[in-house]
Amino acid sequence: MPAALLFALALSSAAAHDMSMHPGAMPAPASAPDSAATARVDGRAEVRFPPELRREVLATMRMHLQGLAEIQQAMAQGRFDDAARVASMTLGMSSMHGDQAEQEARYMPPGMRELGARLHMQAGEFIVAAQDATATGDWHKPQMVFGRMMQTCVACHAAYKLQ
Ligand code: HEC
Repeated sequence: MPAALLFALALSSAAAHDMSMHPGAMPAPASAPDSAATARVDGRAEVRFPPELRREVLATMRMHLQGLAEIQQAMAQGRFDDAARVASMTLGMSSMHGDQAEQEARYMPPGMRELGARLHMQAGEFIVAAQDATATGDWHKPQMVFGRMMQTCVACHAAYKLQ
């Protein structure tokens, strides 16, 4: 095989490897992008927040992840009241302090704002479903809503990043 062809093959398999290692490098889903605020490097739209707000948002994100972990554990142990409480503290609208939500909304492109609103709406839905489960013992509904909520985390991360 000619050396140039071998080289090209090696390069393309390296690129394929890179793609599989970094799911964020996949093209953004069709529903995601807005043309505003966007220098595209790896398919995600880049969003610029002021440094202070950026720090707050990332801290909130880490709290979201911790919330998911605690909720999952509570559900596995049948503690649906705890799951509801954790969701309201870490994922609901009241999980953000002061005017953080309005601040964020000012800098987010519309599609990102929509996903943020969806997450908080699903958190509300989860809280109700988990509270119902304490009475009915029906854990299926909260599990379903939990799954959909996580898909919203994934959708936003696939489409946006912070500058
Ligand atoms: C509206 C969009 C959006 C939603 C919804 C969202 N995130 Fe994020 N999240 C981001 C962005 C943007 C970043 C920064 C990513 C980057 O710049 O590479 C981020 C970063 C993070 C980080 C990294 C924090 C750090 O310190 O670097 C974690 C953890 C995280 N998100 C968890 C979650 C979880 C869990 C959920 C769902 C419960 C969630 N996020 C929902 C947009 C979102």
